[in-house]
Amino acid sequence: MPTVVYYNGEFLEAGAKALPVEERGHQFGDGVYEVVRVYGGRPFLLDWHLERLERSLAMVEIRNPFSREAWVDLIHEAIRRSGEAEATVYFHVTRGIAPRNHVFPQTDPVVSLVARAVSSVAGTTAVRTDEVPTGRLVAWPDERWANAFVKTINLLPNVIAKEAAHRVGAREALLVRAGVITECAGSNVLFVRGGELWTHPANRFILGGITRRFILQLADQLQIPVREEAVTLDDLGAVDEVFISGTTTEIVPIGQIVVHASQQDALRALPADAPPSLLDLTGPLQTVWQAKGPAPVTSRLNQAFTEAIQELRAGAFVG
Ligand code: PDD
Repeated sequence: MPTVVYYNGEFLEAGAKALPVEERGHQFGDGVYEVVRVYGGRPFLLDWHLERLERSLAMVEIRNPFSREAWVDLIHEAIRRSGEAEATVYFHVTRGIAPRNHVFPQTDPVVSLVARAVSSVAGTTAVRTDEVPTGRLVAWPDERWANAFVKTINLLPNVIAKEAAHRVGAREALLVRAGVITECAGSNVLFVRGGELWTHPANRFILGGITRRFILQLADQLQIPVREEAVTLDDLGAVDEVFISGTTTEIVPIGQIVVHASQQDALRALPADAPPSLLDLTGPLQTVWQAKGPAPVTSRLNQAFTEAIQELRAGAFVG
């Protein structure tokens, strides 16, 4: 089925029309976004996504152009038009179209949306209890602004970090701010330490992931103790399991965390001198954490997550 595209009030042919050049989304990155996963034709945790969108919009004082009901209708209409049961819906709101000037213009916000099929239809893959995870993370300085809780379309630091991860065959970049592990470039990170689930508190330094929130709820149901506390680089020796979470990522177990010698100092304190390149990947890779065995707690959480999705596909999930 074709990708479904919506821009400023109309559904369009994919690639049909160029955006106005003076749209603040691409001139300033002046907008906020959401990505929702669709399972069995049903959007997963849509209310939580819309709640977060409302908060992001309020934080940057972009007027929300739609009511909660109008958002729900638009997203369902996009899913219906796509005909896809397993899809993602990306949508964003920008401050609108106006002659370029940093100061907020008196203009209407603009909504864009893209719905497309996901490449893997299997849903979350099983985390086997008898296998050591193999996924790799590369530790990377978290140089983003200090309002990571706002889901802004300004993603240049995240794009650079993700590219660095890609270049070293890592699944994700593990962002570290002053020695403290915050999250990843496009996902959250969770740790199992002495049977407890640890993750950075949902404060201004991370995006409070919807998947993270759902996993914490599952942990509660499974009676896995939760500690919303940051893990530092120095704590990694005490960590038994690591996994990442996100709307498209779902749950991915991690087996190894590496760091480039060239980036090591910047993980603890950003040097004042500009680096030779923002993608400085020189120096040997060092391993800062390695899984010692299978990941039983990740596996239990993943099992519960898979069951919730199966219920959603069957129409029985309430949430
Ligand atoms: N990324 N942290 C960051 C920086 C993210 O970009 C994302 C999501 C998450 C996980 O949040 P959630 O569980 O709500 O998806 C955490 C989306 C999917 C993206 O940019 O494509």
